[in-house]
Amino acid sequence: MKTAGGSPSSINRKLNKNMAKFYITTPIYYINAPPHIGHSYTNIAADTIARFKRTAGDDVYFLTGTDEHGQKIAKSAKEAGLSEQEFSDRMASKFIELWKALDVSYDDFIRTTEPRHIKAVQHALNIMRDNGDIYLGKYEGWYCTPCESFFMEGEGDNNLCPDCKRPLERISEENYFLKLSKYQDWLIEHIKANPDFIKPVSRYNEVLSFLVNNKLGDLCVSRPRSRLSWGIDIPFSKEHVAYVWFDALINYISAIGYASDEAKFNKYWPADIQLIGKDIIRHHAVYWPIMLKSLGLKLPKTIFAHGWWMINQAKMSKSRGNAVNPLDMANTYGLDVYRYFLLRDVPFGLDGNFSDEAIIKRYNSDLANDLGNLVHRTATMIEKYYAGKVPAERRLPESPLNTEIEKLNTEVDASISQADFSLALEKIWVIINQANKFIEDTKPWNLVKEKKREELECFILLLVKVIRTVALSLSAVMPQAAGKISSQFDADVIQKGTPLFPRIIS
Ligand code: ME8
Ligand code: MG
Repeated sequence: MKTAGGSPSSINRKLNKNMAKFYITTPIYYINAPPHIGHSYTNIAADTIARFKRTAGDDVYFLTGTDEHGQKIAKSAKEAGLSEQEFSDRMASKFIELWKALDVSYDDFIRTTEPRHIKAVQHALNIMRDNGDIYLGKYEGWYCTPCESFFMEGEGDNNLCPDCKRPLERISEENYFLKLSKYQDWLIEHIKANPDFIKPVSRYNEVLSFLVNNKLGDLCVSRPRSRLSWGIDIPFSKEHVAYVWFDALINYISAIGYASDEAKFNKYWPADIQLIGKDIIRHHAVYWPIMLKSLGLKLPKTIFAHGWWMINQAKMSKSRGNAVNPLDMANTYGLDVYRYFLLRDVPFGLDGNFSDEAIIKRYNSDLANDLGNLVHRTATMIEKYYAGKVPAERRLPESPLNTEIEKLNTEVDASISQADFSLALEKIWVIINQANKFIEDTKPWNLVKEKKREELECFILLLVKVIRTVALSLSAVMPQAAGKISSQFDADVIQKGTPLFPRIIS
């Protein structure tokens, strides 16, 4: 499904023939329940990077989508009294609608029930079977149905799922297996040789020590059709369908033309960055690279696993029933406020506590007080002293603030490229606070009184420069608010208007 991604720089794209490609992905989400704040977090983060790269002139391909096969979904469809496909169609549209409402500018939305994806999965299975990496064997072990995950002996905690803490099931059946063990040493070497392959460093260390200290069991990549029919047919067995995780991981290549559009595939693969939550690090940093290696494909440059949004110390999840609807938050506080909060409050990679109090606190201090005030005071002065017309450009005297703004965009670019959103925003706020202090220190009303015309003009011009630069740096995080500030300050006649972020009294 190709959608209008709303690229802000489609013109740039056409002009610049030598632009770098930038392929960024999010997980494809299970559709058994509607999306919550956790899902919106990954997509807003990916959207921010994608917007930034587009503005920088890159040819961005931003992929998200839905994971529609497997037992969990078959069960939910049954409970809803719908066929699996009807249920999937209905639920996938909830994700599509949410991304639209949250200004998530994806370029492609993949659904695992689409023919282009099914074809790619079957192609991959055939290749791995032909090269001897997939074999028929007997599976015995522990399985968590809600998480669709297998666990090795000793991994379960008193036979409870280490992730969701619900009981694991013991199962035994004939299945197809992928030889993970064959690639274990190779993967360890790859990780060691590529410090950027897994980020942040805490996750890098976690995966590496897991691989060094455990012998990998082979991965069961099929399910007996008798137990589960809602999956992709295995091309070499009528009795089996593909394991949902095998199916799901292939989305990252099926969407860009694996097994269907070679030129497109070669253009975008390997991915530049794959964002995930730390819950699915093993699937992405162990199974996925081995699948790619077996297929003879390159590995993604970076897998970035962010932390969890928690509510009262518990991970927010649909199964725990503590999920908060992102639309409620965007409607209550404003979309850009919500986006800002998610990316500012917690360094990307760490866990964070989600609460209304935390949002209101950020809102009042950072947005109403700092940014909102700077914009409103400056516009008010331009209206009052210059009838809304910004004085003519002139060389500004050297000052620390002037030097800092010149560097801002480069610094923000560097941080966002590293997915360090909170640092990028912190840097922007250092400037905003300096500018507010500059107003207090300068006391412009005195300049007016003393008729210091030139000084007043320089003062206003510097503030306008700060605000325009800040708006540009913020545009990937807060597209709407930044757009409003930019158009306010690019207008022929600047008006103070109403404050962008009126204080919330709570
Ligand atoms: O795992 N905090 O789908 P899923 C932060 N279909 N992020 C969270 C979160 C939280 N509390 N809860 C969820 C699946 N997420 C598979 C993925 S990919 C080939 C297949 C986000 O619906 C985070 O990105 O359980 C996490 O990794 C993802 O949603 C899991 O979504
Ligand atoms: Mg999950």
